[in-house]
Amino acid sequence: MAAELGRVRALLRCPRCSRPLEAREGVMACTGCGTRFGEDEVAIDLVSGDERRMSFGARAMHSSFLARIYESFWRPLSLALSTGFSMPARDAEASLVARALGDAAGPWLDVSCGPGGISNRIAARAPERSIVAVDLSRAMLARARVANPDAIRIRADAARLPFEDGAFGAVINLAALDLYPEPARVVKEMARVLAPGGALVASAFLSSDTLLGSRVLRQTLTSTAGIHPLSQQELEDLVARAGLARRDHWRFGRYLLLSAKKPAAREAL
Ligand SMILES: C[S@@+](CC[C@H](N)C(=O)[O-])C[C@H]1O[C@@H](n2cnc3c(N)ncnc32)[C@H](O)[C@@H]1O
Ligand SMILES: [Zn+2]
Repeated sequence: MAAELGRVRALLRCPRCSRPLEAREGVMACTGCGTRFGEDEVAIDLVSGDERRMSFGARAMHSSFLARIYESFWRPLSLALSTGFSMPARDAEASLVARALGDAAGPWLDVSCGPGGISNRIAARAPERSIVAVDLSRAMLARARVANPDAIRIRADAARLPFEDGAFGAVINLAALDLYPEPARVVKEMARVLAPGGALVASAFLSSDTLLGSRVLRQTLTSTAGIHPLSQQELEDLVARAGLARRDHWRFGRYLLLSAKKPAAREAL
């Protein structure tokens, strides 16, 4: 565990200036801009301070109450409603994600891990990989700690992932894309921290362009709450624009899981 944490620390970069961090007087400090970052038993805290642009949905995730009921109530309910009760069971979803990531080299990154229910299940299916769990909500990370005290947890904004380029063999991002103010930026960040040849599995609650007025509803959600429901095509376009090659997808009603690959260095030439 200590060796794993040491390896992950070496991958950390400052969310402000992207320079490496070093341990200085018991805290992590940036070797470029000098910013010091806190750390406690819940997480290494690498948030740069620009949280004003959080969507209403993302803000709700900072509630300890929501974090507490998320696994038992909130996630099952959101999935049931968006899939017309055809949602995959959590174990089946974790198996599907682990299979899609296959033998991608470690470490793996779970972006917006929430209370860690899914990433713990994926970790159990790929015990030889270490999984680094990232979320912006301290309440969610605190619950993730209860579920698995040994996991490596980092508090960070998905739009500024505090890792060096190509740090991870696989990136997981489940049920969070619609909560980001700039989903395109997050997908680009996930592509950046993927190693060449690395795999991404992302999922989202889709909007539907076929529903009367849904475009208006989407614009209202975006302008009032900062929530960005995406269509399947928009999600696929985000992935392609980030330089990733789409591989497969699995659709359960309005819940879509999608896998993609970062081209290996020689494929990108
Ligand atoms: C609906 S939960 C999904 C949790 C988990 N991935 C799952 O599938 O159960 C969305 C998560 O995204 C996190 N989140 C929202 N905005 C974020 C951001 N800008 N950076 C990192 N995490 C964010 C929330 O705190 C919340 O834990
Ligand atoms: Zn810095």
